[in-house]
Amino acid sequence: VINGPLLAIESSCDDTACAILSPKGDILAERVLSQTGHAALGGVVPEIAARAHLAALPSLMDDTLTDAGLTLDDIAAYAASTGPGLIGGLIVGSTFAKGIAIARDKPFIAVNHIEAHALTARLPALSGETPAFPYLLLLVSGGHCQCVAVRGIGHYEKLGGTIDDAAGEAFDKVAKLLGLGWPGGPALEKLARKGNPSAVTLPRPLLGRPGCDFSFSGLKTAVARHIAPYGQAALPLQVAADIAASFQRCVADIMADRAENAYTAIPDATALVVAGGVAANTELRTRLEAVAERHALRFIAPPLRLCTDNAVMVGWAALETLSARHDAGYGPSDDVPVAP
Ligand code: KG4
Ligand code: ZN
Repeated sequence: VINGPLLAIESSCDDTACAILSPKGDILAERVLSQTGHAALGGVVPEIAARAHLAALPSLMDDTLTDAGLTLDDIAAYAASTGPGLIGGLIVGSTFAKGIAIARDKPFIAVNHIEAHALTARLPALSGETPAFPYLLLLVSGGHCQCVAVRGIGHYEKLGGTIDDAAGEAFDKVAKLLGLGWPGGPALEKLARKGNPSAVTLPRPLLGRPGCDFSFSGLKTAVARHIAPYGQAALPLQVAADIAASFQRCVADIMADRAENAYTAIPDATALVVAGGVAANTELRTRLEAVAERHALRFIAPPLRLCTDNAVMVGWAALETLSARHDAGYGPSDDVPVAP
């Protein structure tokens, strides 16, 4: 559909990323710069993130071009995430890419960030054949927590989402209560290995109920209540480990239950895909893999670098969008009418 490589930018949260893909979707170069300044502040500060994207983008793009052995003259199209996400960062990244596209008279493709996560499972770089539609996506990170039926390019059905915190946010908040650093997910998982997952009784919000919604704030409150009698500073290590293990088990139970319900809703699904930073969690992966196996679904967990925010997924979603537009008779720069 395009006759040269595509350059993609991702800047919706705290990662500044750039990738260059061949027209077929082969990854020619990819870079991610994770902003580190937020750790000391205990979370992502949107205004700081937006300024950091702006400072990082020009050299990040140059370095990515160098990695690919290309210059801007070789780039045939540009893409960027335009939402959802933190609005300042989105404006910086998409205006950057769109500005270059306009200056060079090349097409610019606006990409929905969730769509990019959803289509990652179809990347040619992933081993194994492309999953057929429809497939199920469980997107769980610090910013996202939703269950989606991917029916086709541009055809997504949200089966459920969180009614309070995202799953990664819950990991981060519980880790904070336990006195671990930020982001808390990896530290909590490490501590959980030393604990007993049955030691602490925690509520499992929405478990056993129909639907694919999530709720984590009650769980977080329950953890806080277990810690209170000791006080964070005096929390014995074994108690902390037991709480971590019990919390993790609880989240895994909830995820597996929601995945079961997603399958019930879309029984013709061909695969269960898990993405987002929380997908790094081994217990979670194992439990979801078991759900997939029970229903003869393929289980796809992309490598972590493609699971968390990255520009490869943005570039790939742009290519998928272009090919779908092409099939419908539109060129890369045509305005495509949006269905009502
Ligand atoms: O996708 P991601 O890198 O960034 C966005 O949130 O968009 O996800 C980061 C989230 C954080 O909340 C982090 O605590 C969580 O993923 N996380 C984990 C693990 N590794 C990262 N949660 C549980 N277990 C892990 N091993
Ligand atoms: Zn994301």
